[in-house]
Parts: sequence; structure tokens; C-alpha cells
Amino acid sequence: MNLDSMLVQQLKQARRIAVLTGAGISAESGVPTFRDAQTGVWANFDPDELATPDAFRRNPERVWTWYQSRRDMMSRVRPNPGHFALAEWEKRVDAWSIATQNIDGLHRMAGSQRVYEIHGNIHRSKCFVENTLVESWANDGSVPPRCPHCGGFIRPDVVWFGEILPQQEMADAQEAALRCDVYLSIGTSAIVYPAAGLPIMAKQAGALLIEINPDETPLTVAADFFLKGKSGEVLPALVDAVFDLVPMDRAAN
Ligand code: OAD
Repeated sequence: MNLDSMLVQQLKQARRIAVLTGAGISAESGVPTFRDAQTGVWANFDPDELATPDAFRRNPERVWTWYQSRRDMMSRVRPNPGHFALAEWEKRVDAWSIATQNIDGLHRMAGSQRVYEIHGNIHRSKCFVENTLVESWANDGSVPPRCPHCGGFIRPDVVWFGEILPQQEMADAQEAALRCDVYLSIGTSAIVYPAAGLPIMAKQAGALLIEINPDETPLTVAADFFLKGKSGEVLPALVDAVFDLVPMDRAAN
């Protein structure tokens, strides 16, 4: 892959790196993105019917069942070379964090340590009434299942439209954006706020902004470098170039 030598030089010097990822980084693992015109989740399902608190109030069974099928799918997928390259990069810099909009848990599965899951995690569940995590519940046929504490419905611990993001995760993601030398925006359409504000915040605070995506986004005009391509191909090549690795080294670590 042809990588700009100026970019590689700047990345070699970077001590503090912050990352935002979106559905695109998991696409090569087999998780559909949201806004692809054909295969996108929101091309085939209406978010107003499935991904809002009102949708859950109106039809909790439908929403729970839909997320259950997504959870089953996400339980079968595995990290791809893009996730692994980020985990490898983290080991080699002083300060590093990933803010991910993804709920699939694949960054941690790939070995990334500092991950802020700003849209939650589909593998966790919480009480719709009390908003507390629920680890287990009675298998009594209720769909959705009931909270063992208050009897209210259980919902997936993901952020729905109109909901506030997890405050600590978002605060940590903002601090990382404000303090980094380099900000990487990877595999996101950069249109859903507040997540989409993070790269802009970093750039305004002086960071070098790099975007990795096969397609341009509203962020592209602000990026110092736009690396056009799939993250599962671009990221391993970038890590190899920045750390003077031959592909074998990376595989061996
Ligand atoms: P989108 O579906 O909006 O955007 C996915 C992005 O990934 C697009 O810009 C694609 O061009 C890019 N892409 C596709 N394949 C790629 C690959 N192999 N490598 C790199 N990039 C690739 O997904 P998000 O930006 O994550 O929120 O969407 C943001 C939020 O909107 C989601 O977290 C979700 C959704 O509605 C909620 O459900 C609250």
C-alpha cells in the first residue's frame, strides 16, 4: 500500500493517539453497517420502530426479539485485521484510547485495553425501569424478560436515538480527543452526534486528523489525511509502516 511518507513520519512521532470507530471497522468481520444503501441495517429496518425508548414502550417484544437476533449474530463474529492492528498499535504508544460507536465488543476481543463504548454493548442488558445492569433473569418465557429486582422489562444496554450517552465513557472520549497528538476516525459516516463531534474537537485542539474510509464523509474536508480504503487493509499496512514491521512481526506478536 502506498502511504504518504509525511504521514508515516508524523505517526512515528505521535505519543498520544485517540481513535473513533464506527460500523465500518466491523464490516470485514461480517457485521452490516447502518447506512449502506443495500445492506445497511437502516436500509432494511426502521430505527423509529426499533431503536428508540418509545419503540420499546410501544412494542417491547418486537424490539427485544430484534436485538436478540443481532446479539446472536454478533456472538458469532470475530475481530478482523483492522481490530488487531489497533490493538497492536496501543501497545506501542504512551497514551491511546478508542471511542467506539460499535456495540459488538470486537475491539476488546482483539486485545484493545482502553475502549470507551459510547453506544453501549449488546452483550449486556439492563432494567428499562431502573436503568441498572442485569446479569441474569428467570427463564419463565417472558419476552422481554423481567428484571429480578423490580419486575420491569429488561432491555439491551445500548444507546437508542434520543438517549443520553454513557457519561463517563463520553467524558473520557472527549478528554482523549482534547489531549491527543493524532486523532483517527475509522469506518464511521461521521453524521451521528455527539460521537461525530469528537474528531472535530480533536482537530480544533490541535491534533492531526486522519480519516480511514472507502468513501468520503462530511468529515473528509476537515481531515489532514484521508486514507481511502477498508480498515482491515489500511490499518495493518499503517502499523507495519509506522513501526517498521514486516507483516510476519505483527503476526508473531
Ligand atoms: P454507518 O453505517 O453510518 O457508516 C459506516 C461507515 O463505514 C461508512 O462511512 C462506510 O463508508 C464505512 N465503511 C464500510 N466498509 C468499511 C470498511 N471495510 N472499512 C472502513 N470503513 C468502512 O455507521 P456508523 O458511522 O457507525 O447508532 O453509525 C453511527 C451510529 O448510527 C451507530 O452507532 C448507530 C447508527 O444508527 C445507534 O444505533 C444509536
